[in-house]
Amino acid sequence: MKHQTAAEILVALALSAFLFTPSVSAEESLYDRLGGYDGISAVVDDFAGKLFDDPVVGARFFGMSDDSRENFRQMNKNLVCAATGGDCKIISRSAAVTHGGLGIKASEFEIVAQHLTDTLNDFEVPQKEQDDLMAIIATLRPDIVEVED
Ligand code: HEM
Repeated sequence: MKHQTAAEILVALALSAFLFTPSVSAEESLYDRLGGYDGISAVVDDFAGKLFDDPVVGARFFGMSDDSRENFRQMNKNLVCAATGGDCKIISRSAAVTHGGLGIKASEFEIVAQHLTDTLNDFEVPQKEQDDLMAIIATLRPDIVEVED
């Protein structure tokens, strides 16, 4: 059997390294796909504005000071950041604790979810990222909705 030359061995090694290197890199986190903290921050600011101005659910936020509204926005930014894979600390209480007893209706949850969808559309967030985020939001529904109207 013929001995392989050094050059042939090098070619074989290079070829096997090429063939066996995984070509699929890890999927980017939803956090990154939403534009990281700045993207999420801009989305939450817009979304919160729509909530506060809404003729139905706006009443839920009546009487909040500017600072309380800012705090509400910040808590939601950290929540979305952490839930999508970002390096943020959750600074809000649990959804069950903060919404429990408010008697929030399913129809109100739909209004809030629609505002988020409208914001995501305004920011031209692709459908895949919208679906992934709305799937996370949907997991909170049982903790938030108390009245199936
Ligand atoms: C759709 C998903 C929702 C998310 C991600 C969400 C998120 C949050 C967060 C992070 C807080 C602050 C919690 C804290 O103070 O520690 C909060 C508070 C609040 N949310 Fe929601 N929420 C959602 C749906 C709703 C809906 C449908 C309503 C009613 C229309 C609502 C009404 C409120 C009110 C009134 C507060 C203030 C409660 C208080 O301070 O006593 N939320 N929410």
